[in-house]
Amino acid sequence: MSSNALPTAGKPVKTTGLHTGDIVPGVAKVDPIIIANNITRTFGGLKAVDVEHLEIPRNAITALIGPNGAGKTTLFNLLTGFDKPNTGDWSFDGKSLSNVPAFKVARMGQVRTFQLTKALGLLTVLDNMKLGAKNQIGEGLFRSVLPFLWRKQDDALEQRARDLLVKFKLDAKADDYAASLSGGQRKLLEMARALMSEPALVMLDEPMAGVNPALTQSLLDHILDLKTQGMTVLFVEHDMAMVSHIADWVVVMAEGRVVAEGPPDIVMKDPAVIDAYLGAHIDTDLGVVTGRYVDPNAAAPTITATEIIEAGEAEADAVEPAPKKTTKRAAKKEVDK
Ligand SMILES: Nc1ncnc2c1ncn2[C@@H]1O[C@H](COP(=O)(O)OP(=O)(O)O)[C@@H](O)[C@H]1O
Ligand SMILES: [Mg+2]
Repeated sequence: MSSNALPTAGKPVKTTGLHTGDIVPGVAKVDPIIIANNITRTFGGLKAVDVEHLEIPRNAITALIGPNGAGKTTLFNLLTGFDKPNTGDWSFDGKSLSNVPAFKVARMGQVRTFQLTKALGLLTVLDNMKLGAKNQIGEGLFRSVLPFLWRKQDDALEQRARDLLVKFKLDAKADDYAASLSGGQRKLLEMARALMSEPALVMLDEPMAGVNPALTQSLLDHILDLKTQGMTVLFVEHDMAMVSHIADWVVVMAEGRVVAEGPPDIVMKDPAVIDAYLGAHIDTDLGVVTGRYVDPNAAAPTITATEIIEAGEAEADAVEPAPKKTTKRAAKKEVDK
């Protein structure tokens, strides 16, 4: 298998040696944090998720890719306890998560980001952070029985919130309404909020959607930093340059099933995968595009700044409840049908 043991300056170090045996869908991992079996979820007559076996490697960045409607978000919802499967069982860190409700899943250390809803926009950035922790840590007992201890915990939470806001460069916004943040800043807040409970596994559903290209690099660095800190990342992403830039492992879903998985340099060169799901842009490392990494052998990048900005604008449109058919992605979906 591939190994980038000698990293080029500025290029993320890929974690390799994650699997054991032949690289086929469902391949076992050396150190899995999630193991899922026979997970199905049906909506009406449609099998939205039909995953026979899937293992997510620990302390690595796994990208979940696939066309719209492939079942990626539904699988996220199932794994985090926000939705119940028709069949299947799965474990997180060796503990079964079947029938475990979402708030307990989060307390166990598996968190997902949530879009900043309208209601949360009316809270300050700092309150959003604290609320994130309370949702995930739980407060009932402390508050009712031991108010003194609770206050101590509250102070600690506020400190953690402020530290994270500094890290995500949102500290100047701590007392602003979250609704006043830009699209990219919202994504940063969503990620920072998820980190309040010191999770082991962070699940990000389209973290780059709606993000201004100027903030892309910052988000990428934060995701890479999660791995450096020992966390595991599972993220859904449509931007293939970003996936090949930061993912250690790629899982491809289509029509509810895992149709391919493997290291990005193998999966994303698989002609069947490229034909079906990936566009033309996968050969350019995103680090080259953002200027973070200069490939001495590379010709001019195949993605132009204009293309990135257009893609960013399309994503921004897609995030708001504006009519989806006006976005590029929705248009592509129509074409694909
Ligand atoms: N709550 C729901 N009710 C009915 N159908 C749903 C629901 N959620 C998702 N689906 C359907 O399940 C399929 C998978 O959706 P989703 O998981 O959102 O895909 P992805 O995130 O890969 O785009 C789609 O066909 C979608 O329309
Ligand atoms: Mg989705």
